[in-house]
Amino acid sequence: MRMWSILKMITNRSLNLGTETAFSVLAKANKLAEQGKEIINLGIGQPDFLTPEHIVEAGIKALRDGHHGYTQASGIPKLREAVCSDIFRRHNVEISPENILIVPGGKVIIFFSSMLLGDHDREILYPNPGFPIYESAIRFSGAKPVPYHLNEKIGFSFSADDLLTKINEKTSLIIINSPSNPTGGIIPKSELDKLIKGLEDYPNTMLMSDEIYDQFCFGETDFTSILNYPSIRDRLIILNGWSKTYAMTGWRLGYGVFPDSLIEAADKLAVNVHSCVNASAQYAALEALNGPQDCVTTMNNAFKIRSKIMFEELNKLDLISCKNPQGAFYCFPNISKLNLSSLDFQNKLLEDAGVAAIAGTSFGEFGEGFLRFSCASSEVSIKRAIEKLSLFLSNL
Ligand SMILES: Cc1ncc(COP(=O)(O)O)c(C=O)c1O
Repeated sequence: MRMWSILKMITNRSLNLGTETAFSVLAKANKLAEQGKEIINLGIGQPDFLTPEHIVEAGIKALRDGHHGYTQASGIPKLREAVCSDIFRRHNVEISPENILIVPGGKVIIFFSSMLLGDHDREILYPNPGFPIYESAIRFSGAKPVPYHLNEKIGFSFSADDLLTKINEKTSLIIINSPSNPTGGIIPKSELDKLIKGLEDYPNTMLMSDEIYDQFCFGETDFTSILNYPSIRDRLIILNGWSKTYAMTGWRLGYGVFPDSLIEAADKLAVNVHSCVNASAQYAALEALNGPQDCVTTMNNAFKIRSKIMFEELNKLDLISCKNPQGAFYCFPNISKLNLSSLDFQNKLLEDAGVAAIAGTSFGEFGEGFLRFSCASSEVSIKRAIEKLSLFLSNL
């Protein structure tokens, strides 16, 4: 009884929070593995590589050197400078370290952007199928989440014309993500050009570009960073980080590039929420950016080969078709010809065949009829998973 009355005290905004199914599928897969079942986990979205040795050593050295205390809330100055040099090296765009906020994971930037720009009388546009935390954070902010479709027919891009029709005077923020989780698609420059041009008619609408997979691009469609559009820079937030690029998901490191109008408020959020990022992790992040970059090329090449194998093998299966992934490390095959919902397919595939994948609906309603497979697993595991999937399909 007491529990019930306390439960009633939870705010609606908290009850509206969504989640990331990948974590619950991971828990279920681990439980089945503990029971002795052969499980191949293509569910969770993290590189299967270890953090490169020189980066680990830099983290250890920082601890030994006594970096045990708080740092500046926005991040150590050297790291913010290194982020700007990295942006300049890769995009030839000059950003001031004053506009950089180092955070414990790129996810924080999604939350901060929604908290800074979402409110009850506002709308925020987000990709669907898309990373589930977008919708969750928008709901938490009180704003109305307005999905736009990443369409399989156009390589899982959005149509800028369609997206622009969804903007109105209440739209405070548009979230885009390329290369995309879960589709592996990349938004072509032509659509970005149209979007940025169209946004000239909505000067109060901000843009948040989640570019966390930007160094894993291997298809025919070139990746274009929104940093390359100077006209939008004063209302642009960039999300990026170390989790995927340097196989550092567990270190919890990310960054945001905020425009002058938002950086002070974003810094204040950081002070209120987490004070600063783990000091030694920031020194490791510094080494990641300043040290050799061949580890990034090695991973990109591995994901290219693995996603090609997965894409080709999936397309050999009856009733399943898969678009060629352009980047990130996911395949998003169409399973709509099978007589199963995405969620039932996910559950049966794990329980009956021992293959963990994520239902497309975990990424929004337009994900129905799709399944997400992570290619961040060895070639052997991918081939074994496809064998198991093939057997599973023949027994359906
Ligand atoms: C599209 C996208 N954005 C942001 C994140 C968050 O990354 P981090 O682990 O750095 O918080 C993820 C993680 O899976 C992601 O897929």
